[in-house]
Amino acid sequence: MSKDRFWRAISVDCINPELFPKVSLFLKSGGNYVLYKSHEHSFTEADRRRLERSFTEFIYVRTGDMQTVNEYLDASLTDVLAREDLSSEAKGNILYQSSVNCVVDMFEAPEVAANLGRSRTLIKHLLAFVASDPNALKSLGVIAANNLYIFSHSVQVTALCLLFHEKHFNLPPDELLDVGIGSLLHDYGMTFISSEVMDKPDALSKIEYYKVKQHAQLGYEFMERTGQFSTIALNVIRHHHERYDGNGYPGGLKGDAISRSAQVAAICDVFCALTMDRVYRKACSQAEALTAMAEETRQGAFNPEFFTIFAEIIKERIEA
Ligand SMILES: [Fe+2]
Ligand SMILES: [Fe+2]
Repeated sequence: MSKDRFWRAISVDCINPELFPKVSLFLKSGGNYVLYKSHEHSFTEADRRRLERSFTEFIYVRTGDMQTVNEYLDASLTDVLAREDLSSEAKGNILYQSSVNCVVDMFEAPEVAANLGRSRTLIKHLLAFVASDPNALKSLGVIAANNLYIFSHSVQVTALCLLFHEKHFNLPPDELLDVGIGSLLHDYGMTFISSEVMDKPDALSKIEYYKVKQHAQLGYEFMERTGQFSTIALNVIRHHHERYDGNGYPGGLKGDAISRSAQVAAICDVFCALTMDRVYRKACSQAEALTAMAEETRQGAFNPEFFTIFAEIIKERIEA
């Protein structure tokens, strides 16, 4: 297990010196974590300026201190998002940080009611942010490289999926939350796949690919057993790799036999995967991803009507 597991990155922008809890802070230097400030000392405005001057974007805390930090982050989120003196980039950073923290905890214990409650609050913030600020999607990408891929990916897919639903389906708020929960957890089943396969830098063998493909069904079965998740959320988790022409998995479902939200999630999932750096390839630009996906849509992969809507949402924001 990599030692990165014991530390969590916090965007320096999130730290309000007056309110930030007293926990030990670390800097990452050449792969090592070096103590920056012990818990006896508070983080001051001067510290913040010093870090900004040295272009330090992230500070690290021990995983064990995350609960304290999360309480601070969750409590300050509403205030931070309402502040007019912060750029949308700074707000995006902070929201993204809180969302990723929340997804990490959800992945650790998805059935715990407190985690579920926290993610509901976050989904509301996330939706309000992406729906009201045209620069939101851009600013949500920034922290990506500093967290494990799967958590950043989950938050990005959720943001897009919520935006699509909000703009084009008139869902009651409860159902929108269920779409958010399903999107946050859509790849949860990956936690059942061994890390050798997950982190492999080169192409997967047939057997490895077969294993990875099980994540949709495994995630679904696990969530279903907890009895905490709605059909809408469960469908997103189980069917986000179905393809409109029936060539997907696990069910090989076709057309509208795939739930509407899972069809949307499939589009958002592929787009987010293509536009993020991976170990084995560089990210595509958003425009390149749309072009590649338009071709896949012609070949039958995605619901063409939904893809057109999706492409419009992205183009509006690329140009914004
Ligand atoms: Fe997936
Ligand atoms: Fe995914």
